[in-house]
Amino acid sequence: MNDLLVKPRVALVSGGTSGIGGAISEALLACGYRVAANYADRHVAADAFATRTGIPVFAWNVADLDACQAGVARVEAALGPVDILVNNAGITRDVMLHKMTATQWREVIDVDLTGCFNMCRAAIDGMRERRFGRVVNISSVNALSGQAGQTNYAAAKAGMIGFTKSLALEGATRNITVNAIAPGYTDTAMVSALPPDVMERILTSVPAGRLATATEIARGVVFLVADESAFINGITLSINGGKYMS
Ligand code: CAA
Repeated sequence: MNDLLVKPRVALVSGGTSGIGGAISEALLACGYRVAANYADRHVAADAFATRTGIPVFAWNVADLDACQAGVARVEAALGPVDILVNNAGITRDVMLHKMTATQWREVIDVDLTGCFNMCRAAIDGMRERRFGRVVNISSVNALSGQAGQTNYAAAKAGMIGFTKSLALEGATRNITVNAIAPGYTDTAMVSALPPDVMERILTSVPAGRLATATEIARGVVFLVADESAFINGITLSINGGKYMS
């Protein structure tokens, strides 16, 4: 722990400049970590986030392995070795399966699931060499419960959970923990884009009677990435206001 006082660990958050990812980046910064936030292509919003928070932002597409390798190298050159990786980048293309195109299927799998592989693949060698790592994969309540209109998203997010458990087994002897968080419906742009009737149905299905705040999801990340959380490995932490209990 004393080392941390001198040289805080570096955390990289994908999709880390807005929504849940933005809250995670800010929460980690508030805990004293050095934080890098990845984003895809919304440069103006990302620059505004960087200016407001002081968190450096880095643009690349998580669906592209070469871009992830280069992106992690850029972060490490700027801030130091990545010890903490939060795979938060994700998209939706909600539509019933009988209307879903192959493109709508592939886009979600490529960003949400393959993006998780790509980012872990880019960061894992360094974690193994240094014998320390914390990976948190942001899944979804809908991976556990299923959701009409989300065969693509639920498959990707459920895939992240199997990925999490398997990588947790691979890193365990090297003090690399890999855990997932399954957020419920959260007050972000992704959810506020839903039609009002759908939103109303969602709210009545949450025992807490409200959406989560992004900060409430970030709280779980702060807990899981701590050095002291070394024995928590391979879990899926639900933060959903009681919507789905598994
Ligand atoms: N459950 C079961 N069936 C449903 C349904 C539901 N929730 N919603 C709609 N349907 C059915 C309708 O009954 C209808 O059936 P019939 O054809 O037999 O009459 C059919 O679907 C089509 O209905 P609509 O024409 O009204 O719907 P649509 O095709 O325009 O859209 C939908 C359907 C894509 C499911 C749409 O309602 C939707 O987007 N729902 C929200 C999905 C959702 O919750 N997304 C989460 C986004 S946030 C997120 O993903 C973050 C996270 O991790 C939680």
